[in-house]
Amino acid sequence: MKENKKIWLSPPHMGGSERAFVQEAFDLNWIAPSGPHLCNFENELSKLSKDFDVAALSSGTAAIHLALIIAGVQKDDNVICSSFTFSASANPIKYVGANPIFIDSEKESWNMCPELLMKAIKQMIKLNQKPKAIILVHLYGMPAKIEEIVNIANSFQIPIIEDAAEALGSRYKQQQLGTFTDYGVFSFNGNKIITTSGGGALVCNDKKKILKARFLATQARENVAHYEHKEVGYNYRMSNICAAIGLGQIKFLHDRVIRKREIFNFYKNALSSIKDITFLNETKGSFSNYWLTTILLNSNSTIDREKLRSHLAKYNIESRPLWKPMHLQPIFKDCKSYTNGVSEDLFNRGLCLPSGTSMKNKDLERVVSKIKELYEV
Ligand SMILES: Cc1ncc(COP(=O)(O)O)c(C=O)c1O
Repeated sequence: MKENKKIWLSPPHMGGSERAFVQEAFDLNWIAPSGPHLCNFENELSKLSKDFDVAALSSGTAAIHLALIIAGVQKDDNVICSSFTFSASANPIKYVGANPIFIDSEKESWNMCPELLMKAIKQMIKLNQKPKAIILVHLYGMPAKIEEIVNIANSFQIPIIEDAAEALGSRYKQQQLGTFTDYGVFSFNGNKIITTSGGGALVCNDKKKILKARFLATQARENVAHYEHKEVGYNYRMSNICAAIGLGQIKFLHDRVIRKREIFNFYKNALSSIKDITFLNETKGSFSNYWLTTILLNSNSTIDREKLRSHLAKYNIESRPLWKPMHLQPIFKDCKSYTNGVSEDLFNRGLCLPSGTSMKNKDLERVVSKIKELYEV
């Protein structure tokens, strides 16, 4: 029975002190989406980069939505977005009535291809449809080609929203991802490297924009005694209870990054004898939190990713195909896209392996042994 215990893809990993912070919030009766734990959690997050302020919100999706509003994106505007991502990166473009334009991946980091980005911007400017913003995703915690993309965006004066939902603890040249551009987004959903059960944050180096985000996130209530509203508001603020969980979690971020990287290296070493399996490696300057360990299977092998996924599922081990690119999603089928086949190939051949930081080495060994069993090595 124990041998067959479910191994999840990326379950929450509680550190132990979360309960004490939540108890304190109860004792102080700060149960609302405001309070001392929320302030403290924002302060802790702002330490990730000294120039940045933080608005803690109900989700990473809410953070992207508010970033688009604050960047001035409006109905019928065009917004460029990484195609290889989770739908939450792109859905907020629709919330504001704008048009997503999807850009395929390059092969080194699997993130937005700078050449295609350049091509898209030039073509759209020619059509008098200059993009209003770029949503750049650092998928699975791997840094995108941030310097090249920032240079392109700057040369056309287009703001970037860095979707670092999966990349807390990842760095490029020692700098936390999400802090390179105009806006950064983190997620604290239950499957992320640290969690607040559900939650997210917008980070920005312009204090006024963070104040605006907090204002919009609390129903855009004007600063008067009665309820006065001049703008459409949202109920997007993080609850003080969730922030209390976050205070317990953030103390362990460093440890969690170390363990995620150990898990990646464990799989990489243990599966090195299987030539049909390859891994996504860091390039110069990049430091990934390896939120999920991802593998690519050889397309000429008789074992495809569905075969491997269902084989693991049979043994109560959860794995998952890589994200299906947005330009292949039915909901976005009418959107413009600039493609090169890279993300489609990744989707067809790629699998995420269980990467929860609470996994013991014997759990990792169980996953590895079941993979080896299928490959007969
Ligand atoms: C790449 C990416 N962007 C955005 C989000 C949205 O975050 P949330 O679930 O906190 O809304 C997620 C995760 O859920 C994600 O993986």
